[in-house]
Amino acid sequence: MFTIHGLTKQYQTRTALHPTDLAFKAGQFSVLLGPSGAGKSTLLHCLNQLTVPTGGTVEVEDLGIVDTAAKRHALRCMTGFVFQQHQLILRQTALANVLNGRLGCTPLWRSLLPWSRKDVTEALGCLERVGLLDFALIRAGRLSGGQQQRVGIARALAQNPRIILADEPVASLDPTKSEEILDLLLNICREDGICTVVSLHQVELARKFADRVIALKDGRVVFDAPPCELSESALDEIYSSGVDVSSRPKEETGEDVLAVLEAKAA
Ligand SMILES: Nc1ncnc2c1ncn2[C@@H]1O[C@H](COP(=O)(O)OP(=O)(O)OP(=O)(O)O)[C@@H](O)[C@H]1O
Ligand SMILES: [Mg+2]
Repeated sequence: MFTIHGLTKQYQTRTALHPTDLAFKAGQFSVLLGPSGAGKSTLLHCLNQLTVPTGGTVEVEDLGIVDTAAKRHALRCMTGFVFQQHQLILRQTALANVLNGRLGCTPLWRSLLPWSRKDVTEALGCLERVGLLDFALIRAGRLSGGQQQRVGIARALAQNPRIILADEPVASLDPTKSEEILDLLLNICREDGICTVVSLHQVELARKFADRVIALKDGRVVFDAPPCELSESALDEIYSSGVDVSSRPKEETGEDVLAVLEAKAA
């Protein structure tokens, strides 16, 4: 479905993602694990170019290497992104939020017109799929956290995505709601053959839902296997703090932060 070759992201002197090669298949449910700061969000954002990678390529079936603005736009249109904090417009209804999912891929002239009956019917279908048809006309701000995340998923579905990327979609939910949301994402992945990549902090949820676990540490892939291979020793390796102080980026010392500030001011 899509492949990354040598994908890397550098922030000033900090390497958030070292050159990374991965291939993702349609209908596969991959979970990204790793400690805070490991590079999970960076990888997800580079995958659909919400963040422009510093180096490397993303290659997508039927699109080829994403190396032009038009292809980047096409990649974003085929990728539904589910955010931790939902990123909904709270004063709009659930339905309006789902319709917003179609805006990015609608020509500007068309987006100035009222939504067509077909668009609205399809958006209602997306809400029905996440179990929220009854809440279509309720303002998003009135919904619970779990319901808001369902609207976020319906908004991603409204794009008719071939890829779904979800960055900690259950971070602010209780254990039962977390399982419900992952169950929903897994069902969508299976039924629609959508390539799905989800970052999580809960190892037990990765074990329960993932086809494949990819663990990052210090911006590098340190584990890539089915969840049954996620042994205690593998987890120790993933989550141990192996940061070598001497290899930290140099602006992490006070003197060098000052040097960066002075260089910017100059
Ligand atoms: N815009 C930015 N500018 C500078 N450094 C950044 C930026 N975004 C991320 N980083 C750095 O890149 C590294 C990876 O961050 P990232 O957010 O990808 O980690 P993460 O694995 O998603 O962490 P978490 O589990 O806490 O969400 C971190 O060291 C972070 O400080
Ligand atoms: Mg993150």
